[in-house]
Amino acid sequence: MDFKVTPSHLQDARVRVPGDKSISHRSLMLGSIAEGRTHVTGFLDGADCLATAEAMRALGVSIERPSDTEVIIDGVGLHGLRQAAAALDLGNSGTAMRLMAGLLCAQSFDSVLTGDDSLSGRPMNRIITPLTRMGAVIESDCDGTPPLQIRGGVRLQAIDYALPMASAQVKSAILLAGLYADGETRVTEPAVTRDHTERMLRYLGGEVSNADGCIAVKGGARLTGNAIEVPADLSSATFIILGTLLSESADILIESVGVNPTRTGVIDILQAMGGDLTLENPRLLGEEPVADLRVRSSILQGCDVDPRLVSLAIDEFPALFVAAAAARGTTRFSGIEELRVKESDRIAAMADGMRRLGIEVDESPDGAIVQGGRFTGGDVNSFHDHRVAMSLAMAATIAEDEVLIRDVDNVDTSFPGFRECVTGIGADVRVA
Ligand code: S3P
Repeated sequence: MDFKVTPSHLQDARVRVPGDKSISHRSLMLGSIAEGRTHVTGFLDGADCLATAEAMRALGVSIERPSDTEVIIDGVGLHGLRQAAAALDLGNSGTAMRLMAGLLCAQSFDSVLTGDDSLSGRPMNRIITPLTRMGAVIESDCDGTPPLQIRGGVRLQAIDYALPMASAQVKSAILLAGLYADGETRVTEPAVTRDHTERMLRYLGGEVSNADGCIAVKGGARLTGNAIEVPADLSSATFIILGTLLSESADILIESVGVNPTRTGVIDILQAMGGDLTLENPRLLGEEPVADLRVRSSILQGCDVDPRLVSLAIDEFPALFVAAAAARGTTRFSGIEELRVKESDRIAAMADGMRRLGIEVDESPDGAIVQGGRFTGGDVNSFHDHRVAMSLAMAATIAEDEVLIRDVDNVDTSFPGFRECVTGIGADVRVA
């Protein structure tokens, strides 16, 4: 499927975007190993999280879906999972594969994890190395990519691990394995990353401490099922924020968006660029902070993006590249090398798409320099990456001519209903 986008103006509106992807994955995994029932509302009904739900079902957990955004999980406790009859296919989802590897390396049975072409090319040594140090036995392809063959029945030992890269997925894989290890598992991060695993573990009665960036979990903690309300995903809201900032005169309120401080780098960066973006009605959903986001059309100014904000905005760089292209002057991104191992090489994919639309982009191994300009019409490739597709779609709303965005099927992995949502507020995005 392709998108055809015609230049269009966003209108004043109040919108909701789907539930947070990271929190939805974690609700399924932690709800499954908790004791008792977990009722999830605001769940993201996207392909990535559905792959996790299927995997947990295959491991013997009863998971019901009374509605698209609701899940009822009958937790089986820390030791209640059962061997799956076949390999677990985790589709496009790096989060599902890395976190499930942490959980499954501690079980009494063997498991096999597979994924689609994109996931099958993504690096897994980053989890295999620390989990192996804990005693896990995991085999990958020779270049450290999936499928993963995980041997069960081993005894895990707690480790003290300094993460070589800022990655919430690696941190979470180690913490999940740590729930089963003898002793206290400690992880130190080079930069703060999203802490949804820690918050949800605490919410379900687990003990997790964080002292100066050293996160620790004790083996053997019992979790208890509870009601989980998933906030709207700030990463999905980012596309609405971007479209609003770029449009001529729109004022849009996005309801109940997760504003966990480990995720809000995008807000800080866009505000530094002159974006009119404010948080209203801040409150807590369980352990997670949420707010309504008010965004108004703004004239953006290029800047040097603070590399300390990279891990707090890690999924928002495709959208930030578009903001930079629409801004006055030059924007410099640095320290973003992790973007090269996401669902696509996002630096290369965005540079390619924006160049095809007339924007000057200089790439380096860990960054990019974007010159503000005008998007022309054209034909661009999403490289099967949901966030690249949605970022280019929002860019296209302010292009001089029609833009065709190729291969957008994966938009459903994180933002089912994206097209309907943005057309509902005035963007002219059609299926071509
Ligand atoms: C995620 C962590 C991030 C992010 C991904 C979701 C998570 O990946 O890019 O979309 O849910 O833990 P890394 O931890 O690899 O940076």
